[in-house]
Amino acid sequence: MQAGVIGGYRRWKMLFLLPLAMAIGTGAARAQPPRKPAAPAKRFDLIRWNHGQFIYGADYYPEAWPERQWEQDARRMQAAGINFVRLGEFAWVKMEPAEGRFDFAWLDRALQVLAAHGIRAVLGTPTAAPPAWLYAKYPDIAAVNREGIRYRFGSRRNYSLLNPHFLAATRAIVTAEAEHYKNNPAVLGFQIDNELGNPYCYDHYCRAAFQAWLRRKYHRLDALNRAWGTIFWGHTYTAWTEIPLPWNTLFGVVNPSLALDYDRFFSQTTRRYLDFQARILRRIAPAKAITTNEMGMFDAVDYSRLNTAIDFAAWDNYPMFDQRHSDYFGPALAHDLMRGSKAGRNFMVMEEEAGLPGWTTFWGRQAAPRLYRVWAYQAIAHGADGVCYFRWRTSRYGTEQYWQGILDQDSVLNQRYRVIARMGREVRRLTPLIEGTRVAARIALLVSPASRWAFHIQPLTKNFDYNRQLERYYAAFRRRRANVDVVFPQQDFSRYKVLVAPSLFAASAGLARKLTRFVAAGGVLVLTYRSGVKDAHNVFTRRTLPGRFARLAGIAIHDYDPQTTQKQTILMAGARYPAGVWFDILTPAGARVLATYGQNYYAGKPAATLNRFGRGAVIYVGTEPETDAFYDRLALLAAKQAGIGLGARLPAGVEEASRKKAGEKLLFLLNYTGRPQRVRITAAARNALTGGREGPQIELPAYGVRVLRLAGAGGG
Ligand code: GAL
Repeated sequence: MQAGVIGGYRRWKMLFLLPLAMAIGTGAARAQPPRKPAAPAKRFDLIRWNHGQFIYGADYYPEAWPERQWEQDARRMQAAGINFVRLGEFAWVKMEPAEGRFDFAWLDRALQVLAAHGIRAVLGTPTAAPPAWLYAKYPDIAAVNREGIRYRFGSRRNYSLLNPHFLAATRAIVTAEAEHYKNNPAVLGFQIDNELGNPYCYDHYCRAAFQAWLRRKYHRLDALNRAWGTIFWGHTYTAWTEIPLPWNTLFGVVNPSLALDYDRFFSQTTRRYLDFQARILRRIAPAKAITTNEMGMFDAVDYSRLNTAIDFAAWDNYPMFDQRHSDYFGPALAHDLMRGSKAGRNFMVMEEEAGLPGWTTFWGRQAAPRLYRVWAYQAIAHGADGVCYFRWRTSRYGTEQYWQGILDQDSVLNQRYRVIARMGREVRRLTPLIEGTRVAARIALLVSPASRWAFHIQPLTKNFDYNRQLERYYAAFRRRRANVDVVFPQQDFSRYKVLVAPSLFAASAGLARKLTRFVAAGGVLVLTYRSGVKDAHNVFTRRTLPGRFARLAGIAIHDYDPQTTQKQTILMAGARYPAGVWFDILTPAGARVLATYGQNYYAGKPAATLNRFGRGAVIYVGTEPETDAFYDRLALLAAKQAGIGLGARLPAGVEEASRKKAGEKLLFLLNYTGRPQRVRITAAARNALTGGREGPQIELPAYGVRVLRLAGAGGG
């Protein structure tokens, strides 16, 4: 199934959990959470927060197990090096069994048992699982799908973000929880909700809120009509209240400008819901930290904007469920994106895969148990200061009976437990070395939320995939051992040497200027097909393509060939590479030709170019080559243009990544394969665990890891 279904997991969540809310009731302005953002801590050190310990944990659901079992659980956790649990994110009905009647006694007892074994907690605010009594009393809190049909109770997160009853209920439970735990030393902080980002919201409240949002953005209706080009098909609005929510139209088409603004609105509304909770928590329990668990490559929400409201980023990593491109560079990129979404700060994994992923109707792949240690090291190598396994024990009930935790339902101490306990011992020894280190990179990927949304609204071709391009360029640099950062348009990327910005479809004038400055100052920018096509309103440019990037890239595009099935070959420096998805036929206007097409009426025409601009250069790749060999070559070329060296290519299935602080660098070598691997390193090293000398040849056992200390700190 697996690749397709697994690859679509997050999208699956989007499609089927997508929900929204139906329309009755009062004006949305009243329903909306306040707009003033909550203020997060300026700097947050996760290890210091956890009393000097690397955060090593499990997601634990004591409410689902007999209380007599808690003591044994806590003892076994402690024996495995676990010092952290996340609790309670789906326990609203246990915390508030009837409206306004709160009961935290059971949670207090669980925290006490855990604390006696040195384990502290982050508590979920339980809003991801509103109780049945709340739905019964206020049926309109239930989300409604884009066709206007309300979901039944029975899943989770199927609430309307803007429903006033839901907001009031949120306020009540979050206030009660914060009041109850504000002084409890076993509680380190709060996780807001669980995997925010859907359901999309299409109800009455939402529509009114969307109209109000547009009014604030455009001020005048004629400005909106102009920006959206509503003259097309006579969609001109004469009152704000005429503006619809997107989708559910005949033929399923929608004005792309309206749809892009809706995506922005939804992302901001999600942020405002998070703010709503964060403000309550900060007011009542200012000493507690705030986070929320996110989903890596998931893109309904712009995490880079959401995360300015929280103290640290946290995310849920399921390599055997979510993976597409590979089960190691896929999660690696997601780690880097999560780090980038909080301006490069260290983060934690709130849910790390601990066993076979499986929902009621679909399964991921089973991993060799030793991989759970490798993935934990991978998270650390990419900037995690905490890893928390999902979940302590597999559920006996409900949708996730097949989703394995560390232990199975029988509680036998199995192989996964032993692997995780080994990791627990190691990570404790490594903590002083890890503490204070950060990932340093000279290469970055630019992720454009507006472009990602615009491609969802108007997908190019059936096989187009924005994230796949990110992964392909990313993997090429990672195969040659370079650390890579992920940056977002509003962030500062001037310090990088190479910036890869695939398919920059919807680019504002401001971003184009920023990129121009980056290149003029000596940066190397890699752009790919379908860049510069739209403006920030998702309106097609009137310039010659690639629009705002034409001068920078030194090319013009007068013709292109979108292909869903037909393949091309491109020729570059004497080698041939298969390519697909899209073929921009390039006309150089100052740029030098790097590659040409091999077939069709445009055989011999340029497919990729290089343009010197200011002190830097722009590489434009007009298609999507399909083999690693192309990307390897391109990465070398870009690095050379930028005057940086890349390392020797790693064997397939092996990753290298590093973190550093003044005077010291920690190098992680990770073997994801079931065979021993050999890797050469260039600097003198010591084994971080044993202190023994290592290198230059390193022998990695099957599913093995080596953490090395390098004297002096090199580049990324
Ligand atoms: C995560 C979610 C968890 C659990 C897990 C396994 O996305 O946060 O609550 O559902 O997936 O499906």
